[in-house]
Amino acid sequence: MSAAASPALAAFIAEASARSRRQPEPADCVLALAPLMLELIAEAGTFLEPQHFRSSEAGYSRNLVFDAPDASLSLYSIVWLPGQWTPVHDHGSWGVVGVVEGLLEERSWVRLSPDRGADVDIDLARGGTILLPRGAVTSFVPNPDHIHVTGVPADRGRAVSLHLYGRTMSDFNIYDVGARTRRRIRVAHNES
Ligand SMILES: [Fe+2]
Repeated sequence: MSAAASPALAAFIAEASARSRRQPEPADCVLALAPLMLELIAEAGTFLEPQHFRSSEAGYSRNLVFDAPDASLSLYSIVWLPGQWTPVHDHGSWGVVGVVEGLLEERSWVRLSPDRGADVDIDLARGGTILLPRGAVTSFVPNPDHIHVTGVPADRGRAVSLHLYGRTMSDFNIYDVGARTRRRIRVAHNES
């Protein structure tokens, strides 16, 4: 669907684009966008359609909601079935996440080795966990990278979340904690 099909989504896209252009510093950008995501969650029923709730037993599903023509902004709805988790990853981008349904869990990993931009000799330690119920908003920035695992434990219900990124999110960095490495991978999504 096009963003214009829902006034609430169209307004969010227009305002998010304007604010992100005004705030080139990622930490300022997510400060400006987090309140917009809070409002967008309340309006999710006006623009999320059945295709945005697609899920798969094979893993969490990324459903495209909006992709800016200049690739400066993208919005996905992600559907997490019980027991589905991301790998340990970072995005190389800022991001703002809002939970529409269920309880989403984000487990942090902390880089102990200096961040030299290298993809080897990376030492990570487990950090804390954040529980995000419906209505919650979280955000992250790169440099230093926000390294995390997101998902839903097997004993909880389905979660659905909205993810806004500062670029088309077609790839991200995944970490092999034991091998102390990271690599860039392409990630698939369902078209709108
Ligand atoms: Fe993430």
